[in-house]
Amino acid sequence: MVPIQEPDRFSPDGQTPQIQLTALTLALLGITFVADVWLPAEVPVGPVYGALLLLVLWEPRPNRVFLVAGVATLLVLTELVVSEPGPFNGIRAVNAVAGIAGVWLIAFGIQRYGHRSAERHRALRDAEDLRYALDQSAILATTNVKGDITFVNDTFCEISKYQREELLGQNHRILNSGLHPKDFFKEMWRAIAHGQVWRGELRNRAKDGSIYWVDTTIVPFLDQSGKPYQYVSIRYDITERKATEARLRDQASLAQLGRMAAVVAHEVRNPLAGIRGALQVIGQRMAPEATERGIVTEIVNRVDTLNAIVEDLLLFARPRPPVIRAVTFDELIAKLGTQLANDPAFAHIDLDMAAADAQLHVDPEMFTLVMLNLMNNAAQAMKGHGRIRVSLDRDAKWVNVRVTDAGPGMTPEIQARLFEPFFTTKARGTGLGLATARRIIESHGGTLTLDCPPTGGTVASIRLPTVHTYN
Ligand SMILES: Nc1ncnc2c1ncn2[C@@H]1O[C@H](COP(=O)(O)OP(=O)(O)OP(=O)(O)O)[C@@H](O)[C@H]1O
Ligand SMILES: [Mg+2]
Repeated sequence: MVPIQEPDRFSPDGQTPQIQLTALTLALLGITFVADVWLPAEVPVGPVYGALLLLVLWEPRPNRVFLVAGVATLLVLTELVVSEPGPFNGIRAVNAVAGIAGVWLIAFGIQRYGHRSAERHRALRDAEDLRYALDQSAILATTNVKGDITFVNDTFCEISKYQREELLGQNHRILNSGLHPKDFFKEMWRAIAHGQVWRGELRNRAKDGSIYWVDTTIVPFLDQSGKPYQYVSIRYDITERKATEARLRDQASLAQLGRMAAVVAHEVRNPLAGIRGALQVIGQRMAPEATERGIVTEIVNRVDTLNAIVEDLLLFARPRPPVIRAVTFDELIAKLGTQLANDPAFAHIDLDMAAADAQLHVDPEMFTLVMLNLMNNAAQAMKGHGRIRVSLDRDAKWVNVRVTDAGPGMTPEIQARLFEPFFTTKARGTGLGLATARRIIESHGGTLTLDCPPTGGTVASIRLPTVHTYN
């Protein structure tokens, strides 16, 4: 952390007016001294010395008052010595002693007051500095006992993508992403309402629907009766760390899955092929009118489904490295169109595949597989009826291919788990479609995301680098 330079009040710049103040007081003391000498003895000038000392109240170095008091004492004593002897000498002496006593009393008073106010000033400035430093580094908010937001700093607005006015007076529920169960928040409120500091990691949702994670500390501030009157929350953005953790977890489970897939390939796929072959032979040997023929065909179909699942698993768990080459988007789209034209699931789907004169650097077979997965999901979401739009746009660095459907979209809970292997909401789904698609796109150096715009439907976006290092 870079320490903030404390502005030096005694720097040459800051010193000029203070020297002038002390000098001014000394000059006024001099004038008072001259007046004291010239004025008749019965005029009590002593209190003026004390009064002048009050000027030093504005002097930031309280000890200076002793210098001024010393000079005042010297002047009073000098005046006493140089004045001509007369009938009022006794009164003069009493005046002088009272004046000196007054001067030193005031001097000590000023010095004490000066020290205290300097300390208060420093404490106030330290608190301001601390708040400034915190404001620069953390996401800050204060909440009243009811849970209404009473203050947010700029960083809070930046990460939540809300305007300050939209947040003030609102409950923190406005940011709830739906991940944490109710008990989680109940426990949090229980702790802070009892005056305990709460620490935890929260997943929040920004105004635009994006998700962010924050490491959160909530500090309750208690009144004299020990009851909280406000809560201050200090948060730090840990979205990236969470993503890395998830990636590492995925990689670990993928490695494990890869080992399992090797066993499945050997121990399941080969016997399945054997069973299928044997069943076909049995079926062929049966009399054409035998009712059992239908049963055999059904078993063969089930074996085929099982085989397809094993193939999906192998593809996901042990993908081959992509063989990337330059292909035009139109070429890929044309092939995809031909494949879908023969698919009954797309018989009532209106395909809007805009031609785009663009080149992609992909493994065509793998890319087509990704597109098929996305298109299948879109068609299934729309229950086989409606329009699917495939579009492309690009900038200097990236090509974006989008598959947009007019389906029902997804709940936040589904969105959070989309890419988990084996996560499916379909009776006959394996839940490997999107997990495989993302793995393939990432092996191309790109990203795959699914969003649900407020206008409805789902948009799957593939982002690929325009330039690729060939393997
Ligand atoms: N376009 C979409 N609209 C609505 N929900 C979708 C869409 N795409 C995916 N989903 C949701 O995401 C889940 C996971 O999709 P994924 O493709 O990984 O598996 P699946 O389609 O269920 O099964 P599989 O593709 O393996 O046959 C789906 O079950 C569905 O709930
Ligand atoms: Mg799917």
